[in-house]
Amino acid sequence: MARILFSVVVGFILARLCQCANSTLGLPDPLSLPPSQYWDGDDGPWSTFLVQVGTPPQQVRLLPATGESSTWVVLPEGCTSTGPVDCPNLRGFEFSINLSSTWQNNAIYQLNLYEESALGYTANAKYGYDTLTLGIDGKGLPTLEHQIIAGIATEEFYLGNLGINPRPLNFSDLNDPQPSMLHTLRNQSMIPSTSWSYTAGGYNHVPRTYGSLVFGGYDTSRFVANNITFNFAPDISRDLLPAVQSITTNISNTPLLSTPIYAFIDSLIPDIWLPLKACHAFEQAFGLGWDNTTESYLVNDSFHSTLLQKNPFVTFNIGPDFTGDSVSIRMPYWAFDLTATYPLVANNTRYFPLQRADNDTQYTLGRAFLQSAHLIVDYERSNFSISQALFPNTSVSQNLVRILPPPTVINGITPPSNSPKGSQERSLSAGAIVGIVVGSVLAGILITTGIFLLVAKRSKNPYDDGGNTAPAILVDDELELGGTPAARPGVQGVASLPLKVREMEASIPTRVGLEGSVEQVKDSDTKE
Ligand SMILES: *[C@@H]1O[C@H](CO)[C@@H](O)[C@H](O)[C@H]1NC(C)=O
Ligand SMILES: *[C@@H]1O[C@H](CO)[C@@H](O)[C@H](O)[C@H]1NC(C)=O
Ligand SMILES: *[C@@H]1O[C@H](CO)[C@@H](O)[C@H](O)[C@H]1NC(C)=O
Ligand SMILES: *[C@@H]1O[C@H](CO)[C@@H](O)[C@H](O)[C@H]1NC(C)=O
Ligand SMILES: *[C@@H]1O[C@H](CO)[C@@H](O)[C@H](O)[C@H]1NC(C)=O
Ligand SMILES: *[C@@H]1O[C@H](CO)[C@@H](O)[C@H](O)[C@H]1NC(C)=O
Ligand SMILES: *[C@@H]1O[C@H](CO)[C@@H](O)[C@H](O)[C@H]1NC(C)=O
Ligand SMILES: *[C@@H]1O[C@H](CO)[C@@H](O)[C@H](O)[C@H]1NC(C)=O
Ligand SMILES: *[C@@H]1O[C@H](CO)[C@@H](O)[C@H](O)[C@H]1NC(C)=O
Ligand SMILES: *[C@@H]1O[C@H](CO)[C@@H](O)[C@H](O)[C@H]1NC(C)=O
Ligand SMILES: *[C@@H]1O[C@H](CO)[C@@H](O)[C@H](O)[C@H]1NC(C)=O
Repeated sequence: MARILFSVVVGFILARLCQCANSTLGLPDPLSLPPSQYWDGDDGPWSTFLVQVGTPPQQVRLLPATGESSTWVVLPEGCTSTGPVDCPNLRGFEFSINLSSTWQNNAIYQLNLYEESALGYTANAKYGYDTLTLGIDGKGLPTLEHQIIAGIATEEFYLGNLGINPRPLNFSDLNDPQPSMLHTLRNQSMIPSTSWSYTAGGYNHVPRTYGSLVFGGYDTSRFVANNITFNFAPDISRDLLPAVQSITTNISNTPLLSTPIYAFIDSLIPDIWLPLKACHAFEQAFGLGWDNTTESYLVNDSFHSTLLQKNPFVTFNIGPDFTGDSVSIRMPYWAFDLTATYPLVANNTRYFPLQRADNDTQYTLGRAFLQSAHLIVDYERSNFSISQALFPNTSVSQNLVRILPPPTVINGITPPSNSPKGSQERSLSAGAIVGIVVGSVLAGILITTGIFLLVAKRSKNPYDDGGNTAPAILVDDELELGGTPAARPGVQGVASLPLKVREMEASIPTRVGLEGSVEQVKDSDTKE
């Protein structure tokens, strides 16, 4: 009798403890978005992820975009009759607006490309709202209604993108921020915190390994943990801005980068943009030749064989500051061995994903870098970490770890006793609100301001060798969706915004007053 009583009591206590543990956390598990198992892109190949858009759902394969708040899908206008017959598949499948009963049209706007415009990227998109399902049916991943969708036709970005930044967009009114997908996931308690982790995987790695994308947590099997934490940079549109302290390679004693720089991490673009001097050092160390016509480092077959034989690796030493602690990210030659395909080039061409930056606004660590690096970003603590990526065999199972919100953020729930010590409450209540406002202000300004440089970039399209067969976007659509805005008034103003959160707070009313109205690029030819 006593034993039974004992076990009942113990059982009860255990159950309570367990329940308590769960309800104390009261938080969902992280969501891992499985890779599409396809390798896509005209400058990759890259590991894409599947989502479904619209009703009935249309499947598309997308790349994660670390700085974007909307989901970009390729419209049928992106595949013209002059293109290859398998264009829709090459572009990760099209989304036909007129086949979705839940599409709510907004209008055509310039894509929200603040950072990338400094690199010469710009394009328009047909914006609207539609239902977004992560992954494929039956995997238990969420379906979110009324998500911001940007339909693209431009070839500036060949694949669609899944925006994973939580900042909202506000199209026509700075007071009406439109929530991002990540924010929606968090708001609907589908993820434990506003955070994600991403590594791009590696097509050339043996064994070939898909990318990993987890919302609200991370997969410990995908990186070598370190204890270095980076705080967000003050400019929220350049939040992921670590210092590259040095770059070295094992085939030369000369450092590739001797003067530290800050470089923006951006998964939307493929290349690594470094100062000219660093590019010259790469040229010397590897024997790379800059191709004036395509403005890129092309790699021919014989040179590729030489490089394979030398098997060099490049080490990026990355830290929060120019000096002090750093993480070493080793990037082997395979991660630099990318292939440009149609329509970037007529014939497949190997290229080394290094670009010459003119100034510090262009220093960027693009997707190529994220093959070797793993990124964890926590928007509730405003910090992130960079780690050496791992490429586990498929036999190695995921080990997902939840990122908890800072204690004060768990609404009405007692903070878990095992919460990280000294967690940073600071970043939320004020921070989030300011962030949202700032985000919408910036988004508004971005949409308002024209995006410059396009003309320059067009003629400077790295792979446009003049007479190649890249299909032109339909003229009508060129005006709307592939169009080339000529001027970008006010960009300097944006760049010089007071960027510290406190200052930002003070400056908002002025900004709104000055630049508050967001204008459309063009009235949309709406579906309705
Ligand atoms: C607590 O959570 C774990 C893992 O999420 C689950 O396996 C377990 O059943 C939960 N326990 C209770 C009492 O809900
Ligand atoms: C849907 O739109 C595409 C172009 O976007 C067009 O070719 C097609 O005819 C349209 N279909 C219907 C049913 O309207
Ligand atoms: C979700 O957003 C709504 C509207 O902004 C808000 O009222 C609600 O409290 C949010 N829920 C959570 C869990 O954040
Ligand atoms: C971080 O890691 C380094 C090297 O592993 C170690 O020396 C240091 O004590 C660690 N710091 C903390 C705060 O854990
Ligand atoms: C550089 O490192 C790679 C990988 O460890 C090795 O295969 C290669 O031989 C090294 N090259 C030189 C010049 O040390
Ligand atoms: C291949 O590229 C290397 C390095 O850019 C160059 O020196 C060599 O001449 C090229 N070979 C051919 C056949 O083009
Ligand atoms: C490439 O362009 C630069 C600047 O436009 C010029 O100085 C250089 O001579 C060119 N190189 C070749 C090989 O054409
Ligand atoms: C592409 O390859 C074909 C066949 O090898 C060749 O005839 C053609 O000139 C090449 N085109 C370019 C632009 O190199
Ligand atoms: C940086 O370089 C780009 C490209 O040359 C140029 O458009 C931009 O104005 C420069 N920015 C600054 C701050 O000098
Ligand atoms: C953010 O800061 C907290 C508290 O210092 C730390 O525990 C956490 O590891 C950091 N997150 C990342 C992604 O570095
Ligand atoms: C991983 O796969 C490689 C090649 O497929 C194999 O050589 C290696 O033994 C595997 N390692 C583990 C731990 O399964």
